[in-house]
Amino acid sequence: MSTLKAVRGTRDLLPPETALWNHIEATARRVFARYNFGEIRTPIFEDTQLFARGVGEETDIVSKEMYTWEDRARAQSEKAQSLTLRPENTAGVVRAYIEHKLGETGMLQKLYYIGPQFRRERPQKGRYRQFYQIGAEVIGPHSAGSESPLRDAEVLEMLATLLDELGITGWTLALNSVGSASDRPRYIAALREALKDKVAQMCGDCQRRAETNPLRVLDCKVPEDQPIIDTLPQIADFLDDASRAHFTAVCEALAACGVKYEINPRLVRGLDYYTRTTFEFTHDGLGAQNALLGGGRYDGLSEMLGGPKAPGIGFAMGEDRLVLTLAALSAREAELADYFIAPLGESLNAPALELARALRQAGLRIEVGDGSFRLKKSFETGNKLARKIILLGEDEQQSGILTVKDFASGEQSKIARAELVKPSKE
Ligand code: HAM
Repeated sequence: MSTLKAVRGTRDLLPPETALWNHIEATARRVFARYNFGEIRTPIFEDTQLFARGVGEETDIVSKEMYTWEDRARAQSEKAQSLTLRPENTAGVVRAYIEHKLGETGMLQKLYYIGPQFRRERPQKGRYRQFYQIGAEVIGPHSAGSESPLRDAEVLEMLATLLDELGITGWTLALNSVGSASDRPRYIAALREALKDKVAQMCGDCQRRAETNPLRVLDCKVPEDQPIIDTLPQIADFLDDASRAHFTAVCEALAACGVKYEINPRLVRGLDYYTRTTFEFTHDGLGAQNALLGGGRYDGLSEMLGGPKAPGIGFAMGEDRLVLTLAALSAREAELADYFIAPLGESLNAPALELARALRQAGLRIEVGDGSFRLKKSFETGNKLARKIILLGEDEQQSGILTVKDFASGEQSKIARAELVKPSKE
């Protein structure tokens, strides 16, 4: 008899790896508590209509990736109901907000969730058919401040804090505004118009998307299509004054709290409910599936599901991808030298080697650069090979006070050579 295996795109999580999953979840719960979020648990399957109406019939998720089945009717008088394993959790949270009349409290609801989601995508590294999200939603009546750009900035600042506390370095935050519900149709009409003459030269997927969901053309990764996409109209030119002011306020608040971001005018995201702010955090270590998390504002979603006006913003992080990133970072960490010595000129090559010898005798792992390198190249090479760089110039050589920079924190300090070459305790 053939042995049975976990089905394609699903997998078992075993110890010791599960300890890392628990650590990530505990860190997320701790950070969310500091921002006053409470946990919500919604069912893993819902009425198919919830996703068709919430996420959008034309999206890839609803049109081809959902696990949907007709649930058997129990009595002859009953109709079979179409049910779906949740492909994401924002629609479910907003359904629960409406069903339990959470808006009637008059307060902002700050809810987080951790759990499995299901999409029938082609499995590859970082992409599974059962995957796990850690997400949060901030939703409430307008009078509770739910529409304020400060909500957006606070959520983004919380995410930067969470990634920092998890020890995930090297992420990039891409930000955009997709405008209000009335800006979008004007933009989509302009895109359709611009695509008319060009789409025949584009890939098959773009030809299909130009018909069904022209915004998705902006997501195309095919290299030959990029010059054409660059000529298409940009959503930024279609924002009304209120959306423009909202976006500016988000950017200013982020700058005020020191959260770095890049504006990406092509970031429209794959779900139909987004309005105004959209964002993604990516990490290069992940390869093709490089989105660690994504999210945005969805000011009209509650009404789309038959509820009251309840603007909101939220995100979901791919927990599988957090695990992959942390594992890659710690593998890299284990390979790194303690210091990369950068001699600042040919005459310092020999002193650099002598310093390396002293540090190695003290038990440290050392790489030495070459004095013919420019400073920029020394930093680039050093960053690949070591945790910290020691700059060895004439002044440092004579004074015995070395300039040391830590690549992870960006901190630069002066340390006496005598301090560094002390033998390590082990
Ligand atoms: P999403 O961009 O579809 O957004 O998914 C969020 C994150 O889930 C992605 O960035 C990725 O890390 C992870 N993810 C998605 N699909 C897979 C997969 N097949 N395998 C592994 N990881 C995956 C949403 O789901 C929205 N509900 C986010 C949101 C919340 N927007 C507002 N509130």
